[in-house]
Order: sequence, then structure tokens, then C-alpha cells
Amino acid sequence: MSYEENARIISDDIFDLINETFAKEKSSRNNEYRLNFFDTYSNYFVLTDDGSYSINSKEINHKVETLHTSTGAISESFEKFIKPMKFDYSKDIAILDICAGLGYNSSAAIADFMKNSTRNLKIDMVEISKATFACGLLVPSPIPEHDITKKAIENELIAQDYATLSLETAEIPENININVFIEDARQTVQGLEDNAYDAIFLDPFSQNMAPELFSVEFFKQFRRIIKDDGIVATYTSSAPVRAGFIESGFYIGLGPIFGRMQGGTLASPNTEMLDWALPKNDEIRIALSDVGIPFRDPGLNNSSEYILDARAEERHTARHNTKISSAVKTPIFLGQEMDDEKLKRRVERNLAKMNIPSTTSPEANYIVEVEDDYSEKQDSSSNSTDRILEMKKRLKKVKRGN
Ligand SMILES: C[S@@+](CC[C@H](N)C(=O)[O-])C[C@H]1O[C@@H](n2cnc3c(N)ncnc32)[C@H](O)[C@@H]1O
Repeated sequence: MSYEENARIISDDIFDLINETFAKEKSSRNNEYRLNFFDTYSNYFVLTDDGSYSINSKEINHKVETLHTSTGAISESFEKFIKPMKFDYSKDIAILDICAGLGYNSSAAIADFMKNSTRNLKIDMVEISKATFACGLLVPSPIPEHDITKKAIENELIAQDYATLSLETAEIPENININVFIEDARQTVQGLEDNAYDAIFLDPFSQNMAPELFSVEFFKQFRRIIKDDGIVATYTSSAPVRAGFIESGFYIGLGPIFGRMQGGTLASPNTEMLDWALPKNDEIRIALSDVGIPFRDPGLNNSSEYILDARAEERHTARHNTKISSAVKTPIFLGQEMDDEKLKRRVERNLAKMNIPSTTSPEANYIVEVEDDYSEKQDSSSNSTDRILEMKKRLKKVKRGN
């Protein structure tokens, strides 16, 4: 099965209904199929807490995710993707919206831009599934600016002979240029210009469903196309994703918490753009344990399964060799006295394999004393990325025995 056929997109039942609706629109040239869709099939849409709608993903490994958090689909766009950006609205802005889905993130960006700027805005929206983009035309707009996004999506769906009628009445303002790409984002990024984007919104399904959109190779493309002060925002707090950003040459910082237990992730070539450090234990785990092994997708064309399996293999090889075992969260006990004797024995057995005699040995303290200057607010002289890289270096030295 090709990657596209297998792609992690909306659930099969609504996918078929949408395709059928647009096929009927084409054969009949009648607008009623599209106009009646939401009322007829409203039970396929998931109402989120702020009144905006989401839909379900395909079932993958017996799991279904919604495209957005239940806390509020459009609120999520503003909170996670717009608020952390430090747009300089005295200049033209360029945004890359990866996994554009129903178009909420781009719509939120347009709303914020129109409120604050009279310059030019360019948005490149990338989504692998025509039916998902088409679903964006069928869902009630949560904010008026979604109608602008819908117009751009409709234009592209007509150009690709998927939609037939021009039913969207909004006008795209002259200073806003929206390009719509319907393809695998891994393809799209390879054709984009160097040093071109102020912001990249990265909004795939979770890392286990779509590791190919969180790989080092994908992020290296981001590093090439993002401006020096640009920011990548993604909702996940996952260790391999954060490690992947660092390996690709980014600084990382904590993103906003919205609808989840933990903050997401921001990445930028410029550390000054990232205000908040990751929690201490996240830094330690990324630096020292095998959970900090990133996803790899050499050639940017591997399947999700291949990428997950290859990472599992790399973790296995790294454990007790270049990385402390992540079992029982071993690395977070470095530098700590431990009361629980049973846990302590397990932790110290893992540490011994890395030439660290105990949690409070000089070796252990040498590695984690890097955390002594930790503060939640970060800057160029004290930040998560530098600490992670330094702890990694120190672990290597200790393992080598010098
Ligand atoms: C969590 S949803 C995104 C929601 C979206 N940002 C919105 O505002 O509605 C993830 C999206 O990623 C898309 N997708 C999956 N694999 C992709 C790929 N390789 N390239 C581009 N889009 C992809 C899915 O079709 C799905 O619409």
C-alpha cells in the first residue's frame, strides 16, 4: 500500500461520504450536496468545548484521535500556534501550516494578522488529503477568517477537479497570499526556499501515528527554510521530538499548555525567541536516556512502521552503551539520595553499566551539576538546549572513563 493510501487521515466513513458528496456535485453540478452535508451528517462531527467542530481520525492500531483537542479546536489554534509566535507585524510575514486539516491554524493566523498588520501575509498550507481539506469547506466556520481559508482551499480543489462549483463567497484580501499544497508534507518541504518562513505550524497526529512528520530529516528541512528568528510550534511534549529538533540544529523551549497535562514544544534557530525552559526532568531524560533517541526518516520516504521499528532498534543498541536505560526513569535519580531500596538497586544496576557507581557518586553529580543553573525562564546564557548538549557530552566522558 502506498504512503498516501495508508496515510493517517480522517476516519473512513466520513472520508467516503465527503468523496461521494463532491462526486455528486461534479456529475449534477448541483450545490445542494455540499450545502446540506453538515445538517445531514452532523453526527460525524465532534463538537469541542468552545463550540468549534473536529472530526475523528482513521483507526490505527485500534486507536482513534480527533483532529483537535476536545478543549476547543479553534481555541487550540490561537493558544498553541499563534500566541507563542513573536510576529513582527511591521514586516511582511510568511507562515508554513503543515497538516492544515480543516484550516483552523491558518484561519487563526489570518485573524491575528488582520487585527495587527497592514503589510503582506503569505501562508503555505500543506495537507495530504483532499477529502480532509474538503471537510474544511463543510464544517461551520468557527471564526469569520475561516471563510477566507475556505475560499483558498476551494480554489485549489476546483483546480484539481475535486470540487466543481464555486460556492465560497469570501474574498481573499489583496495583501494575503494563500498557497494550498495537497500532498505529503515531506515532499513539499523539499521544494521550499531557504530562509523563508517566520513560523512553521506542525500539527500532525501523535508521534506514534505519524513519526514521519517528527523526524530529524524533516526537521533539517525546517532548519533550512525557517528564518533566523523564526519559530516552529508543535503541541507535543515528546522526548524524541524534542531531541530531533536539537539534532537538526534548533534551540528548543516549552510551548503553551492547553488541553493537555504538559506544555508543547517550540523550536527556533535563535534561543532568544524561546522564553521558557523545559522541565528539568525532561532535559535530563532527553540528554541521558534512550527516550531521547529521535525518529529518523532517511530519504524522507519511509513508512511510519519502518520509522518506529528503526527507532526501537536504535534505542535497544544505545541502552547501556551510549545512553542510560530509560527503565524506571533511571536518569532522573542522578544526584539524588534514594530511600526506596528496591528501586535504588534497579536504578544503580542501570547506572553501573554506564560507569556510574551510584546516584550520588562524583560521576553522577558531574553529569547533572549542569542543572544547577536551571531556571524556568531561559535566555542565551542559560537554556534547555545547551544543558542537554552539555549533559550528553559529560555522559560520554564518564562512559569512556575520563
Ligand atoms: C491533527 S490533524 C491537523 C488539524 C489541522 N491543523 C486543522 O487546523 O484542522 C493532522 C492532519 O495531518 C494530515 N496528514 C497526515 N499525514 C500527512 C502528511 N504526510 N503530509 C501532510 N499532511 C498529513 C491528516 O490528513 C490530518 O488532516
